Amino acid sequence: MGSPMRTEPLPGETPLRVPGGPYSVVVLLRGYAEPEGAGGAVRADGSVTLVLPRAWAPAARPRSARPESVETEAALREAASGPILVDTGGPWAGEALLAALAGQGVGPGDVGLVVGTHGHSDHVGNLGLFPGALLLVSHDLCLPGGLYLPHALSEERPLRLGPGLEVWATPGHGGQRDVSVVVEGTALGTVVVAGDVFERHGDEESWQALSEDPVAQERSRRRVLAAADLVVPGHGAPFRVIRGGPRPCGPETRDMDAAAGH
Ligand SMILES: [Fe+2]
Repeated sequence: MGSPMRTEPLPGETPLRVPGGPYSVVVLLRGYAEPEGAGGAVRADGSVTLVLPRAWAPAARPRSARPESVETEAALREAASGPILVDTGGPWAGEALLAALAGQGVGPGDVGLVVGTHGHSDHVGNLGLFPGALLLVSHDLCLPGGLYLPHALSEERPLRLGPGLEVWATPGHGGQRDVSVVVEGTALGTVVVAGDVFERHGDEESWQALSEDPVAQERSRRRVLAAADLVVPGHGAPFRVIRGGPRPCGPETRDMDAAAGH
């Protein structure tokens, strides 16, 4: 008897565009993590994802016209009306990131909000490219210039950025303050950009060793799998979460309990 839920990697190279409304999702750079040499070293970089409002166009919001609300909800809504970057990769990938953004018609000054899913160097290594953006790194929310704003994000209370667009608290991997971005209404359903809640598709045997809090992370993994139709993991290909229907055989397919790491 198979599980009614399974996961499968999504084929395709980056940039991988998932159209949607009110937001499209573009995986700009696909992260990787590969052992190198015999000493246990790993060469890695994190995935970088762009969330683009359908209504946004480069001329719609000149950089100099951006007001700066100091009220948290208004600041988030305002920032999320422009391009949103989820993670930035490591500092060695800055040029690749700018080129990938340019390929989508987005300049670094156009980015309204940068979300860092957690504070590891392969995920938030290029924050300095976006001094004009609102920054949400783990649970730290700050305006350009370093004015930090209060908020009430918790596992029970997401931060709402816009219609069908939320930041969820998904603790575990980097500690208690990791976050994920949830985008509803794309052509592939609900997309969850999950940082290292999922290191990669098929990481069931490896995620615990990298986790600051495996109990919290397994809870986060289950919550993401229950909501997502597509997961963008911190490294490697995005993977689909498929509910119902016959379960095909194959090494690339994981059932839900296995994917959560239970
Ligand atoms: Fe990490």
